[in-house]
Amino acid sequence: MTTTPVAAEAASPARPAGDYIARRIQAVPPSGIRRFFDIAATMDDVISLGIGEPDFVTPAPIVQAGVASLQRGETHYTSNSGILELRELLSAQLARLYGVSYHPETELLITVGVSEALLLALMAVLNPGDEVIVPEPCFVAYAPTVIFGGGQPVAVPTYVQQEFQVTVADLERARTPRTKVVLLGYPNNPTGAVLERSRLEEIARWAAQHDLLVISDEIYDRLVYGVPHTCFAALPGAWGRTLLLGGFSKSHAMTGWRIGYVAAPAELLAAMRKIHQYIIMSAPTTAQEAAIEALKTGEPYVEEMRLEYDRRRRVIVDGFRSLGLDCFEPRGAFYAFPSVASTGLSDADFSERLLMEEHVAMVPGSAFGESGRGFVRASYATALPKIEQALERTGRLVERCRRG
Ligand SMILES: Cc1ncc(COP(=O)(O)O)c(C=O)c1O
Repeated sequence: MTTTPVAAEAASPARPAGDYIARRIQAVPPSGIRRFFDIAATMDDVISLGIGEPDFVTPAPIVQAGVASLQRGETHYTSNSGILELRELLSAQLARLYGVSYHPETELLITVGVSEALLLALMAVLNPGDEVIVPEPCFVAYAPTVIFGGGQPVAVPTYVQQEFQVTVADLERARTPRTKVVLLGYPNNPTGAVLERSRLEEIARWAAQHDLLVISDEIYDRLVYGVPHTCFAALPGAWGRTLLLGGFSKSHAMTGWRIGYVAAPAELLAAMRKIHQYIIMSAPTTAQEAAIEALKTGEPYVEEMRLEYDRRRRVIVDGFRSLGLDCFEPRGAFYAFPSVASTGLSDADFSERLLMEEHVAMVPGSAFGESGRGFVRASYATALPKIEQALERTGRLVERCRRG
């Protein structure tokens, strides 16, 4: 008996769609942050200290520059590397701020945010199974992006007792013959830690000794409070083994424009450009024009926003401490990372109850790695009155926990 093709198709059980998904993608759990946002989105009057983006809108002249570029009819691709003027301005800014030298034509690439820059950097250097040492707690995308890039993340915990500063001894314990890269993110999301220059110098010496590359995500470089930012590439001996990532999302309140960059020695940069030109072509033209304006005239806005974050930082840290929650003093980015251990709740239960009972969103620290367990991340990229109200509501939950 012969079966018609249609009958054969109907008879064979359909393969579950999930079976088609590559194993390394299946292995990555969805972001722990998303779930909270989804719940918060269904509620009225939620105060969100959950998200990691400025509450400010992009400064008006920067927006205008984007609009004007569209009105001039600049609606085409740019060069794969990005508009040369933008790279020239960036090169000048990096030299002025940190004394590092990157040739605008061969050592800088404009990307779709640091998010793209990170994936390019990892894809360009990793062979399957290469290990990437990642100090934690850290940005939720680091470990998944290492996996998407073909590598294996190796977490190194940091602790509040050491002010969330990673040491060479910690890194050395995690090093194996397969280690190729160390991925640093300072100022740190979620802890707000800034690595002291002497520690970074030790890391640079250790990386050289073991011939490791360093991917340094410095997206929060302009948001430091009372301490300087040290650019990793500027340290003695570090330039040639550093892939420096930076962007405009946080410093210029430009998250939605999607502009970042990577600066690296020409040969490494060419490898990243090759991937970028095939998968992206060029970063959005309008946004590149806006970024040019940001570099030309945006400096007063950067400082104005930084000062406002600093005011909020002091209010939120004092606020948590006055509720009896231990709170490490963040020196960079725009996050406070208090411990909720004294409430007797886990970080996940605390965040869940805070959202359900008091309509305040904070992110459980364990979303940023095991060593974030017991802490919550509260973003102070939120207006001061909202922060004050959120603290009051948080106080009510803490009080209930204490009373049992
Ligand atoms: C440490 C860190 N790196 C990178 C990013 C992504 O930035 P971008 O908007 O430039 O893609 C974020 C965003 O939250 C971040 O916190």
